Parts: sequence; structure tokens; C-alpha cells
Amino acid sequence: MKALITGAGGQLATELLASPPTGWSVEAISEIDLDIRDLEAVRVAVARSAPDLILNAAAYTAVDRAETESEIAWSVNRDGAANLARAATEIGARIAHVSTDFVFDGQTSRAYLPGDAPAPLGVYGASKLAGEIAVAAEAPGALILRTAWVYSPHGGNFLKTMLRVMAARGTVSVVADQIGTPTSATTLAEALWGLAVAGASGVHHHTDAGVASWYDFAQAIGEDGHAAGLLERAPVVTPIATEAYPTPARRPAFSVLDKTSTWNILGRPSPHWRSAMREVISRMPVSS
Ligand SMILES: NC(=O)c1ccc[n+]([C@@H]2O[C@H](COP(=O)([O-])OP(=O)(O)OC[C@H]3O[C@@H](n4cnc5c(N)ncnc54)[C@H](OP(=O)(O)O)[C@@H]3O)[C@@H](O)[C@H]2O)c1
Repeated sequence: MKALITGAGGQLATELLASPPTGWSVEAISEIDLDIRDLEAVRVAVARSAPDLILNAAAYTAVDRAETESEIAWSVNRDGAANLARAATEIGARIAHVSTDFVFDGQTSRAYLPGDAPAPLGVYGASKLAGEIAVAAEAPGALILRTAWVYSPHGGNFLKTMLRVMAARGTVSVVADQIGTPTSATTLAEALWGLAVAGASGVHHHTDAGVASWYDFAQAIGEDGHAAGLLERAPVVTPIATEAYPTPARRPAFSVLDKTSTWNILGRPSPHWRSAMREVISRMPVSS
């Protein structure tokens, strides 16, 4: 069996490439070689690759910039996803697409189920929701996996930003009133492969287990980064309110995702976010 992975070079694609299941070969294609916004280019690339499965890890992920670059966000996250789904259907391949907790508005206090009504607060979430709808329309058997707060040793993410700021300043203020779940790109890749190989379709959720605020996440990064030798000294992390750190895009105050359907298909729960984070930190070079 063969999988074609888009968005090569991104956090998720890198981990997907590193962990193909037994019996699968993978081809990864980066934005330079395939801009998913170009339907004809997508058709040619998909027909040439002839995969059994497309794993779409390509996305416009700049949540704040999306507010002013909305055309790019919509064209990548909605139209690009739709192009891949259409090309998959045309050659009889399946497609697994990745979406986000930011399709929800956070106005709840229980974990979001896959069937809960979405209500995105910003352009990024709206464009990702439109991508979900477009993919399902073009490829009715598609797998759509929502995730959240993704980090890895590569690419730009909160974990690496915190380590950089903590190393430079020794102190950082982080919002404590937005609640979600940090998620290792490694466990996300494992879940996506597992669901895809199991033939899952429809909308499912994957994050690591547990809940945290961005402040909790930062505090843990400081403690575990120091313990692992990535930080010379333990940083001081100060909790602040969202109002004290205004951003162009509004974010949900609570975006914990219910993972029951994913855990039932995979036959196991996700690891707790703190142990998944320690595993990622253990792979990071001490000099970074
Ligand atoms: N990161 C998070 O916290 C988070 C949270 C929830 C959901 N997700 C979702 O999880 C998935 C994977 O995210 P990630 O963190 O791995 O993202 P990422 O590291 O930003 O990688 C996205 C990749 O997509 C590529 N790309 C962008 N525009 C493209 C285009 N027009 N054609 C082809 N490739 C294009 C990017 O290439 P360039 O770098 O060259 O532009 C990059 O390699 C995405 O669907 C994202 O929406 C992420």
C-alpha cells in the first residue's frame, strides 16, 4: 500500500514520514513541488504518485496572520483540501485530512464531541471548517481528524518559542484562561496512521490526554526543559489573562476535544500530554 503525504516539511508530515505502518510505502511532497491550491497540478501529482491513501498534512497554519491574509488561508485550507479530495476520488484513493479545535468557539465546559456544532471565532478556524466540509463533499468516505496545540522538535510551535524565550529572558508571561490539550506531532501521526489503516471515515478527534492552560503548558516546558538540560536555569512563568495578551485572532477559551471514538478504533487511549511532551523534549538537542 502507498500513501502520498502533502505538506512535507511541516510538523505532522515529518512525523508521518518517520512512522509508516508495516507494509506501507510513503511519498512526501512539499509546497515547492506541489501547491495544493492548483487543481491541475494536484491531479497530475496524484495520478503520477498513484497512492492508495492521501494524508493531507498541508495547511495554512498562521492563526493570527490569517486575519489579514484571509484569501491565502481560504485558498489553502478550503480549496487546496478540496482539490486533494477530488483528485483522490478521481483515482479511487482514500483521503485523510487534518483539522483543528479552532472550529469551535469554546463556549462550553465539557469536551467537544466530533458531532458538536462548530462555530469558529476566526479566519483560520472558519477556513479549516470549510475544508472539512469540502473534503467530505468531494470524498464521502474521507477521514477527518481534528487535533489541537501541536508541537514537535521541528518547525515553529509553542514549545520551541517558549524554550527560546525562557533561555533568553528567564521569565515569561503566559495566558492562563485558555484551556485545551498540548499534542505531540508524534502521537498525532500515530493516531492518523492508525485510523487510516483501520479504514475509519467521518470526523474524529485526537489530542494527547489531559487538559492544560497555555500557562500550565509553559510551566511544564520550563520544568522539563530545565531537567533535560535545554535550559540553564528554571524560568519564572507568570499567569496572565487573555485581555493582557491581545492577539489579532480570537481563540476559544475552552477547546478540549473528546477522543472516545478515536480511542475505541485504536483500542488504546492517547498518552498524557505531559509524558508525550517529555518524550519530545528528550529528542531535542541540548544546544537548541
Ligand atoms: N500546529 C497546530 O498547533 C495545529 C493545531 C490544530 C490543528 N492543526 C492542523 O494540523 C495539520 C498539520 O499542522 P502542522 O502543525 O504540521 O503545520 P505546519 O508545520 O505549519 O505544516 C504545514 C505544511 O503545509 C505546507 N503548505 C502551506 N501551504 C501550502 C500549499 N499551498 N501547498 C502545499 N503545502 C502547503 C507548509 O509549507 P511551507 O512551510 O513551505 O509553507 C508546511 O510544510 C494542519 O491541518 C493544521 O491545520 C495544527
